[in-house]
Amino acid sequence: MNKISIIGAGMTGASTAHWLAERELADIVLVDIVEGVPQGKSLDLQEAMPIVGKDVSLVGANDYSATAGSDIVIITAGLPRKPGMSRDDLLSANAGIVGPAAEQCLKYSPDTIFVVLTNPLDTMAYLALKKTGLPRERVIGQAGILDSARMRAFVAMETGVSVENINCYVLGGHGDEMVPLTRHSNVAGIPLREYLPADRLEAIVARTRKGGGEIVNLLKTSAYYAPAAACAQMAEAILKDKHLIVPCSAFMQGEYGLNDMFFGAPVQLGRKGMERIVEYSLDADEKAAFEKSAVSVKETHDALKKLVAL
Ligand code: APR
Repeated sequence: MNKISIIGAGMTGASTAHWLAERELADIVLVDIVEGVPQGKSLDLQEAMPIVGKDVSLVGANDYSATAGSDIVIITAGLPRKPGMSRDDLLSANAGIVGPAAEQCLKYSPDTIFVVLTNPLDTMAYLALKKTGLPRERVIGQAGILDSARMRAFVAMETGVSVENINCYVLGGHGDEMVPLTRHSNVAGIPLREYLPADRLEAIVARTRKGGGEIVNLLKTSAYYAPAAACAQMAEAILKDKHLIVPCSAFMQGEYGLNDMFFGAPVQLGRKGMERIVEYSLDADEKAAFEKSAVSVKETHDALKKLVAL
């Protein structure tokens, strides 16, 4: 059986374990600093397995030794947002959590692949890559699947068409400057720009950009079901060697003209992790939006470098 460790057994970590267990993909270890919580949540999920008919082992722990030999480590540990906070406001608190967590996990699972979810996402993925010294194939950030799923959900709500027919691609950094690519998005192959009136499409793009904030305002904390489902999809693509192309945050080495930074792009996932970054041809407006988003991610990377020696 494959093994997946999830660091942080809060709302996102536990929801990720839930989605993963339902897929019967791997045995699961939940790690958290709070005593009892990872143990309690994993036992609760374990007790659900006979009902859903999945043979998966779930274990909770407060130390990293339980993660030994993980095929994938998913990092969700850290503070979530509160209303009025941007993802970047979490930088200093979460940098102190994600860096040591990544180092500890690598010690026990030298061959593992990291999926990072903690915000500010692109910069936490950068931190994990630098702290572990791993090749870029093995550190991938989850953001684009979520942002694209939000856009797909809004298009489905607007059109009444199955979510399965709706393909949307939201790239760029995981912040308010993210780039919903309407030219590349479609309903059953029909470009969104033809399918929807311009004002409706514009409203969907705006709602997508602020999709995380919309949930924070309602819940008074960050979203977790959809982010967790996105992590589970990434883990499945990796473990099943699917060569699935999905939007993820990846370390750029010249792609889209960017270097030494994480950025959201279509990425092909397989058993080795990130197999390649797909480069779309962009028109002038899309290029400008990418550049604006990249500047904002770079600023957060620079802020991190002032906080942590990399
Ligand atoms: N090691 C392990 N777990 C930790 C550590 C640590 N050093 N520090 C904090 N945690 C745990 C907390 O105890 C908590 O259980 O991380 C968990 C975070 O869970 P929640 O507070 O429920 O937050 P969640 O909604 O899951 O969000 C986590 O994901 O989407 C992002 O913006 C979100 O950065 C946030 C992260």
